[in-house]
Amino acid sequence: MFVPICVLLSTLTVLTSASLNSTAASCTITKYSAAAILDAQNQCSEITLRGINVDPGETLDLTHLQKGAKVIFDGTITWQYEEWRGPLLRTSGTDVEITGTADHVLDGRGSKWWDGKGGNGGKNKPRFYYPNNMKNSKITNLNIKNTPVHAIVIKNCDGLVLENIRIDDSDGDTQGGHNTDGFDISGSNNVEIRSSTVYNQDDCLAVKSGTNYKFTNNFCSGGHGISIGSVADGVTVENVYMADSQVERSANGIRIKTVSGAVGKVSGITFENISLKDITNYGIILESDYLNGGPSGQPTGDCPITDLTIKNITGTVASGGSNVYVIVENASDWKCSGIDIKGGTKTKDCQGIPPGSDTIHLRLV
Ligand SMILES: *[C@@H]1O[C@H](CO)[C@@H](O)[C@H](O)[C@H]1NC(C)=O
Ligand SMILES: *[C@@H]1O[C@H](CO)[C@@H](O)[C@H](O)[C@H]1NC(C)=O
Ligand SMILES: *[C@@H]1O[C@H](CO)[C@@H](O)[C@H](O)[C@H]1NC(C)=O
Ligand SMILES: *[C@@H]1O[C@H](CO)[C@@H](O)[C@H](O)[C@H]1NC(C)=O
Repeated sequence: MFVPICVLLSTLTVLTSASLNSTAASCTITKYSAAAILDAQNQCSEITLRGINVDPGETLDLTHLQKGAKVIFDGTITWQYEEWRGPLLRTSGTDVEITGTADHVLDGRGSKWWDGKGGNGGKNKPRFYYPNNMKNSKITNLNIKNTPVHAIVIKNCDGLVLENIRIDDSDGDTQGGHNTDGFDISGSNNVEIRSSTVYNQDDCLAVKSGTNYKFTNNFCSGGHGISIGSVADGVTVENVYMADSQVERSANGIRIKTVSGAVGKVSGITFENISLKDITNYGIILESDYLNGGPSGQPTGDCPITDLTIKNITGTVASGGSNVYVIVENASDWKCSGIDIKGGTKTKDCQGIPPGSDTIHLRLV
């Protein structure tokens, strides 16, 4: 079988050979050109992007990948500065794999945008990576650094595994990083995030909507913890399994927040085998009174949290924080066991814990 190899220096070399088997071609791009990247997707099933510097205000657009294609990042990939919404990188496809070599880095150079305001004002900051309309696909071995704001925003995917993803926004701790969510997911089905690491200043995981997600064997540091929500009006979150992970140096350990007044459903949620360390606000917080400007203190019951399992959650909250806080309405079918969180000195009254199902554990604050 003839396997053509095209090495692309400034633009894509167009292969005209009659024997070209386009689905087997392998291409390398070493200088950014939107046209060359589009051509490569049309012609190559394996695309290496090495050391490119993307033009200001442009998305590194990999939404035209052939079925079964593989993208490999190599060297240092950067983006030039511009105030805009992004994303800086976007991928779509079926049966595709997005991966990186052992020493690559996707460097968002976030400090150019960081101003302590995140998505709430100041500079208009680009989201980093949108995996969008990906089906039966994989994203593996990525090394992401210093995202201007949200790192990975997954939307409308069905059958996506993210494995061994490192997001390191820790420079933002002292340089004004804010709203640097690790993984946000909405409108998707069957998404699994595993064996990944996030150093950031907002949610490690934020599940906004969708069904059948798994988050396992992950490490979260510096941010707001592992979250379902905020769950907005008209939205369903169903069957989310979060387990075998560690959260440290974060505002919260595990959290579910539904927006005050929302109509929707949060059901089939499991948190299991999660250890906490140096949590500043809440080890566990479950709230149905969330508002962006601050919680209302009046939980509402039209987006009830049902079929919730919280099992074997252990660790420490800093003094001044609360080990557990629950303020919900209309919740049912909770199974809680093995909750052993210590250190928090601020006791808050819990409200709305459904009777039975071992909820004694949630009352021990
Ligand atoms: C082209 O490559 C694909 C993938 O390797 C292979 O399945 C297919 O048989 C090849 N077609 C031809 C005509 O060589
Ligand atoms: C929780 O940890 C225990 C002990 O290590 C293990 O047997 C169990 O399978 C874990 N549960 C999950 C869901 O991984
Ligand atoms: C509880 O979870 C921890 C991980 O956080 C695990 O090491 C431990 O074995 C689990 N214990 C049980 C009883 O499942
Ligand atoms: C409880 O939730 C159900 C289902 O969403 C809803 O129909 C009902 O009105 C809610 N009740 C209260 C008191 O909020």
